[in-house]
Amino acid sequence: MTTLANYLNAHASNPALNDVITTVTDVGKTISQLLRKGALADILGEAGNQNVQGEEQKKLDVLANDLLLEALAKNSHCAGVASEELDDATPANADGSLLVLFDPLDGSSNIDINMAVGTIFSILPYQRQGQVSENSDFLQAGKQQLAAGYLLYGTSTVLALTITDNVVMFSLDPDSNEYVLIKEDVQIAADTSEYAINASNYRYWQAPMQQYIDELIAGKTGVRGRDFNTRWVAAMVGDVHRILCRGGLFTYPFDTKDANKAGKLRLMYEANPMSLLIERAGGAATDAVQRILDIEPSDIHQRVPVVLGSKNEVDYVKDLHLKHATK
Ligand code: AHG
Ligand code: MN
Ligand code: MN
Repeated sequence: MTTLANYLNAHASNPALNDVITTVTDVGKTISQLLRKGALADILGEAGNQNVQGEEQKKLDVLANDLLLEALAKNSHCAGVASEELDDATPANADGSLLVLFDPLDGSSNIDINMAVGTIFSILPYQRQGQVSENSDFLQAGKQQLAAGYLLYGTSTVLALTITDNVVMFSLDPDSNEYVLIKEDVQIAADTSEYAINASNYRYWQAPMQQYIDELIAGKTGVRGRDFNTRWVAAMVGDVHRILCRGGLFTYPFDTKDANKAGKLRLMYEANPMSLLIERAGGAATDAVQRILDIEPSDIHQRVPVVLGSKNEVDYVKDLHLKHATK
C-alpha cells in the first residue's frame, strides 16, 4: 500500500512542493468530512454574498476557501494564494517559494442536490522570494506549473495529482483517513465516443462548435459515421475525472451569452491545472485552437474557452475551427 505521504517522500526533489501539497490535501480531508455530514453540518445553501465574478457564493464556497486560505497562510513555503472567491491574491509568507491557486469548491450548483463537487489547485513558482507577493506574480502561463491536481468529493473522495511527468490517483480511505494510491500513470485513449457540453447554450456558440455538436448528434447517419454519447456532471472536476478514467471530450466553449466573458471557466485555477493533468495523461487541452498551457494570463480571474480530453477529438475540434477561420 502506498500512501500519499510515501509517494511524496519517494519524489522528494522539491520538499517545499510536497509540504504545500500535504497542506492542500489535508484541508481536502476536512472538506470531505463536512460534505459527508451535509445538511447536518449546516453547510448547505447560500452565503448571501457575491464573489468578484458576480456569482452567488454558497456557504461551502466560502468555508472551503477560508479553510484553504487559513492553512496555506501558515505554510512557510507558500508565498501567496489566489482563489476564485477572493478579489485579489492574498500574500502569505514572503520567504516562500511557491504560489498556490485554487477553486475551493468546483461545481457549486451540485452541493445542495448531493452530487459530486471538488477542489482544484495549481502551484506556481514564486520568482521574488523575500518580497511580498502581488497579483502580477501569479500571471504565469500554465506550462510553468510545478504541480496541479484536484480532489473529487464523489461517492468516494479521490485525489488526482501531477508532480512528475505523469498523473497518479489516490483514494481517501475513510477508515485510516489516508490517501492511498489507486492508479499510477493514468493514460487517456486518443479516441472516444463520449462528450460533455452544456447544450442549452447552443444558440450562443460559434459556427464551428455548432457544426461539431451537430455532427456528434447525427452519429452514424452523419459524417462521423458512428454514434456518440453525452455525459455532463455540471462540475468540471467530475467531467475531467471521467475523462481521466475512461476518455472523452469536455468542452465549455466560447459563447456570446455574456459579452464580457470569453467562456465560463477560469484560466488560472480551473483550465490550467486541468490542462496539465490532461496533457500529462496523454490528452490535449485547447481554447478550441491554441494550447491552454501556452496562454500568457493578464488577470488572475480571466476566463477562457476550454476543449480538453482525448487527443484525436480535441484535434478534430481544432481542425473545424481552423477550416472555418480560412473560409
Ligand atoms: P464553480 O462552481 O466553481 O463556479 O464552477 C462551475 C463550472 C464548472 O465546474 C462547470 O463545468 C460549469 O461551471 C457548469 O456550468 P453551467 O451548468 O452553468 O453550464
Ligand atoms: Mn469551478
Ligand atoms: Mn468554485
